[in-house]
Amino acid sequence: MKRRIGVLLSGRGSNFEALADSVAAGRIANAEISIVLSNRDDAPGIAKAKARGIEARAIPSRGLEREAYDRLIVSALREKQVELICMAGYMRMVSAYFVSAFRERILNIHPSLLPAFPGLESQRQALEHGVKFSGCTVHFVDERLDAGPIILQAVVPVEDGDTPETLAARILREEHRIYTEAVRIVLDGCYRIDGRRVLFERAHEKV
Ligand code: GAR
Repeated sequence: MKRRIGVLLSGRGSNFEALADSVAAGRIANAEISIVLSNRDDAPGIAKAKARGIEARAIPSRGLEREAYDRLIVSALREKQVELICMAGYMRMVSAYFVSAFRERILNIHPSLLPAFPGLESQRQALEHGVKFSGCTVHFVDERLDAGPIILQAVVPVEDGDTPETLAARILREEHRIYTEAVRIVLDGCYRIDGRRVLFERAHEKV
């Protein structure tokens, strides 16, 4: 049986598309994206998933407390029997309930070298701070914001003429590459978590 992945997103969905391309091309082998869920019904990523024939729907969060909302998400993911959840531009913190329902099975991608610049507008934060290098991080999700054990990072240089938009575009290309690589590592199970460190037990193929 194919390994079943659920994707959560709130917007454009380019990281979802990169993962879907990798599944279709066999770079993520023997897997399928079984469901795409969004907290926003206007998320373009939902339409992009449907256009690829992937089941996708919005579960609006308005008026629901965090855990009550997460119970709806967890039940939709369980219904599809997903074993791995990829947050791909999913702009919500998750509850302890959600994390414990899928412990060490939820990944997130973030457009900075964590722990620098968590939260919103990370590329703007990086420029305002004056760093010379930024990048992106794939990490396991815990109850804290952008804080769980780090699986992979990629470094991206900051150029003098950068705006938040040009830096974001350069980082995004690396996001698309390392998200696929991180999903492969986690599905292969060739790692262990030692405190905050994710240690690889054998070399993995680069994307
Ligand atoms: C990506 O840059 C992702 O790293 C970021 O949102 C963007 C979503 O783009 N996520 C976060 O900032 C999470 N804290 P996409 O919808 O095209 O994948």
